[in-house]
Amino acid sequence: MLILALETSCDDSAVALLENGKVAAEAVATQIEHGIYGGVVPEIASRLHMSTLPRLIASVMDSAGAVIGDVDVFAATVGPGLTGSLLVGLSWAKAAAWAAGKPFLGINHLAAHLHIHYGDEPRVAFPAIALLISGGHTSLFRLDSWDECRLLGATRDDAVGEAFDKTAKLMGLGYPGGAAIDELAREGDPFSVDLPSPLADPSLPEFSFSGLKTAARLVWESGVDSRDLAASFQRVIVDILTAKLMHQVLSSDARTALVAGGVCANTELRRRLETECSRHEVTLRLPEIRYATDNAVMVGMAARAVLDRDPAAASSLSCNAFSRWEGDWLTALVSPADRL
Ligand code: KG4
Ligand code: ZN
Repeated sequence: MLILALETSCDDSAVALLENGKVAAEAVATQIEHGIYGGVVPEIASRLHMSTLPRLIASVMDSAGAVIGDVDVFAATVGPGLTGSLLVGLSWAKAAAWAAGKPFLGINHLAAHLHIHYGDEPRVAFPAIALLISGGHTSLFRLDSWDECRLLGATRDDAVGEAFDKTAKLMGLGYPGGAAIDELAREGDPFSVDLPSPLADPSLPEFSFSGLKTAARLVWESGVDSRDLAASFQRVIVDILTAKLMHQVLSSDARTALVAGGVCANTELRRRLETECSRHEVTLRLPEIRYATDNAVMVGMAARAVLDRDPAAASSLSCNAFSRWEGDWLTALVSPADRL
């Protein structure tokens, strides 16, 4: 069973070919062109996907020694994300599926992030508490199985990755800024700058980062060592994320903490989660760093999960892109009725 998976929801063009649930070949091309603007420019992102995606698909098929006619299922991210960018991967996958007479699966990007753990060995034990932390989302979910996912709480304002990116931009560290703050923080004192911890109560499964971002701006404008600000800002975020995740796990019957999304590439967060989970004998699932940020393997894994439950599953070719997701459920397969 060969699944060709495409991901173009934001500024990474990604392609993966999965053979019986294992990665046969994959490629990611990150658009560095947005750096000078300090954020993703949607029109530039879609144009770059249009020129990059066909090249990436050809190179992935080449390195796996396969041709499009061998593919059994075409999967692509349908949303949430930038509409123009989503449409590039989605249209390609739908057209290829139609031409080849094979099924198309429209995949939810957020569910895909969590499904990077679908192929983990040993298999994920449920119930699990999932923390999804990316440039666009910060949410806690309870998973009773791969198909039963309920939102516990999310950010009330900025996503945590957005807070990293905007603070990094302010400090002149470029875009995206999470990795730059991560690096700079290694040289700073994490307790040197006094910053607020909004909605810090661990029992509250909601987040708020806009006040922290504003406080960081005020401190920056008053003059502070950039390394100390980076380390203190990161420390506050790591404290909040770790405390809320651990509270949800320890106050429930879950013994698995499952983490996904670009921000879980953060070195200090990974270190802290590993320490806390091992102290409380909680099984921690952290993706490899290259699978924390956007990639197509997670889209292929989500498609694989859908097919394991229902080998005849398929999305309608009238399935369209959607920019936002606001439900309290999360399923991998997006049917037209699920579109928001
Ligand atoms: O999951 P992702 O690639 O894309 C979205 O779905 O949004 O996440 C991107 C986010 C960006 O905000 C980026 O700054 C952040 O992940 N990020 C990091 C690190 N690496 C990427 N944040 C903190 N520390 C990192 N090392
Ligand atoms: Zn993402």
